[in-house]
Amino acid sequence: MIEIKAQEGPLAGIEGDVVLVLAFEGEVSSTVDQAVAGWATELFTSGEFTGKPCELSILHRPAGLKAKRLAIAGAGKRDRFNAIEMRKAVATAVRTLKCKALKRICLWIEQPEFAQSAVEGAILGDFEPDQLKTDPKKVEKRLTSFTVCAANGGSVLSSAAERGRIVGEAQNFARELENEPANHLTPLVLADRAKTMAAEFGLDCEVMDEAQLRELGMGALLGVSQGSDNPPAFILLRYVPADSTSADHLALIGKGVTFDTGGVSIKPADGMEKMKYDMGGAAAVLGAMRAIAQLKPNVRITAFVPTVENMVSGRAQRPGDIVTSLAGKTVEVLNTDAEGRLILIDAITYALRQGCTHLVDAATLTGAIVVALGHVHVGAFTNNDEFLGRVMAAGKSVGESMWHMPLDDEYKEYLRSAFADLPNIGGRWGGAITAAKFLQDFVEDKPWVHLDIAGTAWLDEPKPYLAKGPTGVPVRTFVNLALNWN
Ligand code: BES
Ligand code: ZN
Ligand code: ZN
Repeated sequence: MIEIKAQEGPLAGIEGDVVLVLAFEGEVSSTVDQAVAGWATELFTSGEFTGKPCELSILHRPAGLKAKRLAIAGAGKRDRFNAIEMRKAVATAVRTLKCKALKRICLWIEQPEFAQSAVEGAILGDFEPDQLKTDPKKVEKRLTSFTVCAANGGSVLSSAAERGRIVGEAQNFARELENEPANHLTPLVLADRAKTMAAEFGLDCEVMDEAQLRELGMGALLGVSQGSDNPPAFILLRYVPADSTSADHLALIGKGVTFDTGGVSIKPADGMEKMKYDMGGAAAVLGAMRAIAQLKPNVRITAFVPTVENMVSGRAQRPGDIVTSLAGKTVEVLNTDAEGRLILIDAITYALRQGCTHLVDAATLTGAIVVALGHVHVGAFTNNDEFLGRVMAAGKSVGESMWHMPLDDEYKEYLRSAFADLPNIGGRWGGAITAAKFLQDFVEDKPWVHLDIAGTAWLDEPKPYLAKGPTGVPVRTFVNLALNWN
């Protein structure tokens, strides 16, 4: 865990392994340049450094500074710079510096309003998906502290740094869960993690077991889990603000399939190992609640996390089976690999029964969204454009981009079953949309947004600012949406 600090004072007085400063393209900060007697100007004029993103130069034993090194990192064009670029620039620099065993980093900033995203960047850049590697040297490549420093920032600086710490840690919490292999993270273990987290941060937590789910009538969820020896669970986390003025009650619903073999409609072996991240939606919801418990937004929020393992066995559900959902509607399971929507509909119905007025779900729901949008945008579906606008705006300002996908009534015609109220799949085309359309049948016209994160919850290749593997999307969107509720 990195210690996060905020510090006021002159650049020259900062101690640590390295002071990190950012430089825009073609620009030298006079404060920095004066402190290091023209070194920054020299870097620019020699052409060694231009200020483009991902560039980094290090000066050792900088005369006039207390720190042992000064690192200058590219921040791109000044007119394009914002909180998103700050997060990326710091994360990129941290990922380079930590490999050089520089563990105590101080960032010197001239714009204290970006302290939050700078701290988020440091924490996110520090993350590696190597929880289960036993090499003792790996700890040498982790930061011990990150300090944001500014000439003057006062309490604004320290409170922004604190918010950054909470959000960054929440996102890494989600990433760690996402990355855990399915033999470690079963549905009951996920429920235990939620309980422990809730106890630590003062959230109310309830876990319903298989018998309770049967008693309630969550037939769609139970059909998916029946093939596994690992029993299902339904996790509820409740946040109630101290003095809310709003009658709204937001539901955050996350798909928690701890492993998706596809069931009897089994997936190909190639790449199946990645299906441990089929609980990415659940992880993001739990991560967001971890931050929400600390940042205390002004709206009531309940998390609903149905969690199961989709396995193949003599007890597994078959194609053609018809299950009865909590809402009472029957579903013909034409493909056992379309299991996420089956557990989500029971969660949606349960959320409505708890009195939720607004619903947002996050789910690694379809391969089709990856075909449509690649790994860039989250696919966003809604029955209420105004509400989607708020969710997308919340995402945009924290650098989690979403693309509004269609959900016209005509797509409903793709979902016809001869033997039940609904089939769980549509035809060959528009697979991400028919999945969303299936969910929509259960939301009873409450404002609802469905986020298909199958393409964005996991990176197959690292980015300069993010390690390979779990991304934690959309933790920041959820937190931002909650904090800006009114
Ligand atoms: N978990 C998968 C979706 C997925 C695919 C997530 C790729 C992450 C990466 C989901 O349960 C699934 O298998 N969906 C099927 C639906 C199909 C059977 C209609 C799919 O997308 O192929
Ligand atoms: Zn599946
Ligand atoms: Zn799945």
